[in-house]
Amino acid sequence: MRHLKLLTAGESHGPGLTAILEGLPMGLKVKTGKINEQLARRQEGYGRGGRMKIESDSVQITGGLRLGVTLGSPLSLWVVNRDHDNWTRSMSPEPVRGSNPRPVTQPRPGHADLPGYQKTGTEDIRNILERASARETAARVAAGGVCRLLLAELGIGIFSHVLSIGGVKARPDYSDLTALAAAAGQNDLHVADEAACKRMKRTIKSVWGDGDTLGGIAEVIVEGLPAGLGHYAHWDRRLDSRLGGSVLSIPAVKGVEVGPAFENAHMRGSRVMDEIILDKAAAKKGNSRFKRNTNRAGGLEGGMTNGQPLIVRGAMKPIATLSSPLASVDIKTGQTVKACKERSDCTAVAAMGVIMESMIALVLTDTILEEFRSETMKDLKSAWRAYKRQVNRR
Ligand SMILES: Cc1cc2nc3c(=O)[nH]c(=O)nc-3n(C[C@H](O)[C@H](O)[C@H](O)COP(=O)(O)O)c2cc1C
Repeated sequence: MRHLKLLTAGESHGPGLTAILEGLPMGLKVKTGKINEQLARRQEGYGRGGRMKIESDSVQITGGLRLGVTLGSPLSLWVVNRDHDNWTRSMSPEPVRGSNPRPVTQPRPGHADLPGYQKTGTEDIRNILERASARETAARVAAGGVCRLLLAELGIGIFSHVLSIGGVKARPDYSDLTALAAAAGQNDLHVADEAACKRMKRTIKSVWGDGDTLGGIAEVIVEGLPAGLGHYAHWDRRLDSRLGGSVLSIPAVKGVEVGPAFENAHMRGSRVMDEIILDKAAAKKGNSRFKRNTNRAGGLEGGMTNGQPLIVRGAMKPIATLSSPLASVDIKTGQTVKACKERSDCTAVAAMGVIMESMIALVLTDTILEEFRSETMKDLKSAWRAYKRQVNRR
């Protein structure tokens, strides 16, 4: 990020997770309840493992906030790992008396386990997997939850919905995005198509029963962005690159597309580009005179927003830890073995969508604060309003 700084710390089964978010303006109202709503959404979803049943995340803000309002100083957020109570010996930050906890020596395919061992030479792969675990994303969702509040004050809304799990596809209705968001909020898989949601659950149940796992695709939609955020002139300021990198930073996300990019790649240009239409009625009301009837660009042209809803998709590979494990090699004995098992999800695509929302909220907040540099929320809001007026006059 170019303006904001986000540092997270903490292991999956350690005492908890810390996020430090630096660069927010003074004067942003932060209700921890709103952040907790996002943390709860990250834990949802049929197909999640046992941990979600014992843990219900909540955030404590320990710096940068006074009387519910940001001070402009670094914001520090703390999320307890309630599961740590079951790991007090092997994940104690302090040395423990007696024999050392049993090391993990049988790397799981698809995880950081083997390359992490090869990189560091550690004798206990737990030293790698505890930090590489997607548990860290709870800290990102907490920080992203704060950014969502800032974006909401600027009239920007973010939601996600699941497009497919294990090859079962949803057919969402895009004609009304408010209704689409509401439909996705109706079930724990965040699928805006009830019939597809039921089919997905049946598929998850059967695959779970086989000791296997599934991946899928989630889509984030952002409304309320004026044209021109991001930049056409610099590779590292193109919003596509900033958003793409942030989505690919999520564990298990191996593909990202802006709008239906992979489908567009198979089509003629004349069917893909969103024609520019003059909208005199909108201009009379003070809105932009430029309109599009389609949004195959996913809201980005030339590295900038184009005033259409931003649409970003992320493809998640199947969960790597299998309860019927695949072959591996013990790093200590050199014997062929089955990979180790950790308590694990069968699928987590809905959660991945919530993490995508958080990463996108962070990147958009970063871009806005870079382009509308303001010490206070009051100044930011007036600069934002002035820019929107200017964009609509052009
Ligand atoms: C929300 C979420 C939950 C996840 N839960 C698990 C899990 O329970 N078990 C597992 O093996 N991988 C899980 N993963 C994926 C792994 O963290 C990821 O595949 C692994 O760290 C290797 O990184 P890579 O897939 O990006 O290469 C989860 C990922 C996300 C985003």
